[in-house]
Order: sequence, then structure tokens, then C-alpha cells
Amino acid sequence: MKVAIIGQGYVGLTISAFAGEYFDVVGFDNNTKIVEQLNKGISHIEGVESSVLRSWIKAGRYRATNSVRDIADTDLVVIAVPTPLTSERKPDLTFIDAACRTIGENIKTPVLVINESTSFPGTLRNYIKPAIEKYSTSRIEHLYAISPERVDPGRSDFNQRNTPRLFAGLTPEASVKTRDFYSRFCDQLVEVSSPEVAEAAKLFENTFRQVNIALVNEFAQIAHALGISIYETLDAANTKPYGFMKFTPSAGVGGHCIPVDPTYLAAVAEENGAPATFIRRANIVNLEMSEYIVNRVQADNDGSLQGKSVLVVGVAYKPNVADVRETAAELVIKHLRDRGAVVSWHDEVVGSWHGESSAPLSGADIAIVITKHDVVSERDILASAPYIFDTTGKVAEAKGL
Ligand SMILES: NC(=O)c1ccc[n+]([C@@H]2O[C@H](COP(=O)([O-])OP(=O)(O)OC[C@H]3O[C@@H](n4cnc5c(N)ncnc54)[C@H](O)[C@@H]3O)[C@@H](O)[C@H]2O)c1
Repeated sequence: MKVAIIGQGYVGLTISAFAGEYFDVVGFDNNTKIVEQLNKGISHIEGVESSVLRSWIKAGRYRATNSVRDIADTDLVVIAVPTPLTSERKPDLTFIDAACRTIGENIKTPVLVINESTSFPGTLRNYIKPAIEKYSTSRIEHLYAISPERVDPGRSDFNQRNTPRLFAGLTPEASVKTRDFYSRFCDQLVEVSSPEVAEAAKLFENTFRQVNIALVNEFAQIAHALGISIYETLDAANTKPYGFMKFTPSAGVGGHCIPVDPTYLAAVAEENGAPATFIRRANIVNLEMSEYIVNRVQADNDGSLQGKSVLVVGVAYKPNVADVRETAAELVIKHLRDRGAVVSWHDEVVGSWHGESSAPLSGADIAIVITKHDVVSERDILASAPYIFDTTGKVAEAKGL
């Protein structure tokens, strides 16, 4: 069976690597540089080994392309393109629309279309299917299903095989074929009664994280005001064997999912007349952590950051990945610069960002740790500046949340 996977980023390439063991996979991406690199067997995604890609390429079971001709004779298409927010922080389905256009205009025989991109309930039924039909020149009846992706980049204990996968087809035939596809490389498939339930479950999973992160971030501020250690308090609460799940404070939330997906849920809720005040508030609390941290650092440094050199340590949105999308470091740096600080950043995993290179981990007046990668030692961080503020809870001797 030939499988086309549209989008070869975190989600699409991860699926390609697993599917390549069983199917002929064509990875379609409109980024020429990514396509060239992938065809040389070089992976740009943590968790996808280049050696695995090379072995599928050698066996003739994987190739990347940006030519629509290469997906015309496929049996199954997976959509794995970005679903960001617009500048007004509303759901942006333009990438989904482009993927639907690629499918509609180029696939002339009936296939199963599975959406793995995260979006609001109703996207498969009311947006993807009609869009593909609109772009199609012939009257082909494709099958449609949703299976939201749960990949956690950089994580080794849970992967495609051992993470239960939700799915639902628009028709029983679509459900059966979707199960057949994923059951090759996923141990546990969970079918739900409608695509809307699967879409909503994915959004709720990430909203649960966003809200709990906001709660612990607010609690960090309360604990500081009361002169109590947040970390000791969380560890104490975590001794309760039921009804509590430990989240830890941070400079905010980053990545493509947690800062974005809850806004998809809030938008569709409000469109349907249901309030989403809790979700909206959680987003604000997380966004405001950057300013709270800069306020704390300023207060500890004679009330002024003007002209002081500040090194931001770790700009990736989480440890051990190079992903800087929606990183909290961005807002922290903005607030620091607004107050006249001379800011540089250090991140051995990211290397370069916004056209700037990672600075040495030394020589600053102030260092603020946003993300601590395993490759960076606590000792080196402590030696980087006379004043260190740690937002991660991993640099024991530093000041922090
Ligand atoms: N990254 C994660 O951890 C994660 C986890 C679960 C779900 N998701 C969801 O999966 C979807 C994809 O996210 P991602 O992290 O893989 O994004 P990504 O940015 O890493 O990759 C998307 C890829 O799609 C390509 N692309 C964009 N438009 C295209 C088009 N019209 N045709 C072909 N290729 C196109 C881009 O060049 C890019 O390589 C999003 O909806 C996201 O919310 C992501």
C-alpha cells in the first residue's frame, strides 16, 4: 500500500518513520530544503533517527517530494500540516486548506484521507471534506477519518507504538481502514463514536495541561508572596496518592500545541455561545509569567536593568529539543530589552535563532534560566554570572521561582 504524508515536520516525519516499516511512504512537503535533506537520509526532527530514514530509503519504502505528481497514485493520505493562530489569535486553517487543495486537485482515485493535524471539533466533517470536494475536478468519494497526533518530541518512553491512539471515521468503512493502517505500528487503538469526539479530546488534553500549568504558575507567585518554597510545597502535596497531579512552574508555555490548542477550543466554544473564561484566563496567566520573572529579577538588582548584561539560558520551549515555537524566552527577552537590558542568549541545542547565534555561557551580569537542557551543567550555569535566576527548579543554588 502506498501512503502519502502531507507535511514532514514533527508529526508527519514521525509517522513516516513508523509507517516506513510496513508501507511505501511518500513524504510530501512544500519546503524544498527539508525535502532535499530527507532524501539524503538526514532527519531534522528529534526522535526520528537518520539511520531509520536511510534504511527505508535504501529499501525503497521512503522518499520525500514536493512534486504533486508523486502523490497521485496513493492509497492513503495523512494530513500533518501546521494549525497555528492568526495575528488576531484565531484558528488559522490556511495550511489545512492548502493540503486539501493538493489532495483535491491531484488525487483522482478514491483514497482514505486521515487528518492528524490538531483542530476544533467539526474540522474533518465541515471543513476538510468539503474543501477537498471543492478542489476536486472529478466527483470522487474519498473516505475520511481523524486520528489526532499525541507525539511528544524528545520523549523516549512513549512513542507511536505504545501511545494509545484515538480515531474515528466519518463512515464505518473509513473507521475499519483507519484501524487497519495504524494497527501495524500502534499497539492500542481507541475508536470513538464520532470525529468530533476525537477532535475535542485532543484539544481537551492540551487544555488540561495549559490550565494546570497556569494554576501552578499562579501558585508560584502566591508561594513567593507568602515566603514558602513552591517546590517543597508541591512535593508535599504530591505525597497524596490520589486526586493530585504535580505540575511545575515555569516562564510560561511554549511549543506548537499547549499555547495554541486551547485557543482553538475557546474559539469554537464562543462561536457556539459557550463561555471559555477559564481557558482564556489560563492563557493570560501563562503569558504574564515572563513579566513576573523580569519584575523579580529587576527587584533583586537594585530596581533597574538599564545597561546590565543579561544572558538568557535556554531558549528552546522545553529541554533537549531545538524547537523555539512560542517559546517563553521570546517574551522574557522582550521585557528585558524594554527595560534597557543588553540581552544575549545561550542554547547549545538551538544554536541559532532570529538570525543570532548562541552566546557563550559566561561573562554576564545576570543569567536567567528559561530551559535547562541535559547537556548544560548546573555548575557551568552557576559560573556564568554573579546573579542567576532559575525558572526551571533545576539549578539548586540559584535564586528562582
Ligand atoms: N509538534 C508536536 O508535538 C505535535 C503534537 C501533536 C499534534 N501536533 C499537530 O500536528 C500538526 C503538525 O504539527 P508539526 O509540529 O508536525 O508541524 P511542523 O511545522 O513541524 O511541520 C509541518 C510541516 O508541514 C509542511 N507544510 C506546511 N504546509 C504544507 C502544505 N500545504 N503541503 C505540504 N507541506 C506543508 C511544512 O513545511 C512543515 O515541514 C499541527 O496541527 C500540530 O498542532 C503537533
